[in-house]
Amino acid sequence: MGRETRNRVPRHVAVIMDGNGRWAKRRAMPRHAGHRAGVKSARRTVEACGRSGVEVLTLFAFSSENWKRPPSEVGALMRLFLEGLEREVDDLHRNGVRVRFIGDRACLAAELVSRMEDAERLTAANEGLVLVIAVAYGGRWDILQATRSLADEVAAGRLEAAAISEADFASRLQLHGLPDPDLLIRTGGETRISNFLLWNLAYTECYFTPCLWPDFDEREFAAALSSFAGAERRYGLTPDQIETPGLAGA
Ligand code: IPE
Ligand code: IPE
Ligand code: MG
Repeated sequence: MGRETRNRVPRHVAVIMDGNGRWAKRRAMPRHAGHRAGVKSARRTVEACGRSGVEVLTLFAFSSENWKRPPSEVGALMRLFLEGLEREVDDLHRNGVRVRFIGDRACLAAELVSRMEDAERLTAANEGLVLVIAVAYGGRWDILQATRSLADEVAAGRLEAAAISEADFASRLQLHGLPDPDLLIRTGGETRISNFLLWNLAYTECYFTPCLWPDFDEREFAAALSSFAGAERRYGLTPDQIETPGLAGA
């Protein structure tokens, strides 16, 4: 099989950082205060991943559907991304983190996009944790933009529709070149994907916790890793085939 099936650290952890608004509401604070507290949790999680040997961390910060929130909340979130980038990028760079953004940049303010590109350029040669931040990202949008890119290739006569492989498709998705997430963590108690990485999560282990994102700390992260370590990843095979790899076909 060539795949380890148990007791390992996930190479790629993806997180749906949910529950900021409820965290703030419980404290009679405005929702944006929850988002601000959420930035601290994101920083803690980046550090915890670095220490645990995780190679890639993907954080879902803002979905395609989050544009439909009240303009004041969208504005507060966009300001927070810009401020967060300005404040954190040097530190991330010093720690060897490589930053990459996924999502529809055409929807974002030019100033924010230019900061994002600066951060990507500055950290491009780093060899530590790969930090992927999903902003204005939707799994359906991702699949559509990959499809359009393949359709262009076919129309230009460079590719045959019948020859399109999974690898061709994956190479046009936003996470191209990175392994699929091994572990998905969703905080905030909901047990849904909410249009996150629809293609890449096909065989990801999912960990749902009621913990609200601003309360997510190292102990919570360790609990998620330990749940992952106990899971048997079968990729469609039978348990016997996993125990005795020689039994696996093809
Ligand atoms: C997640 O927290 C952050 C974003 C979606 C931007 P929420 O803002 O969704 O918080 P809840 O789910 O309303 O508590
Ligand atoms: C998912 O949270 C998106 C992010 C965490 C960025 P939402 O709060 O938008 O998801 P729903 O609306 O509960 O499905
Ligand atoms: Mg939410």
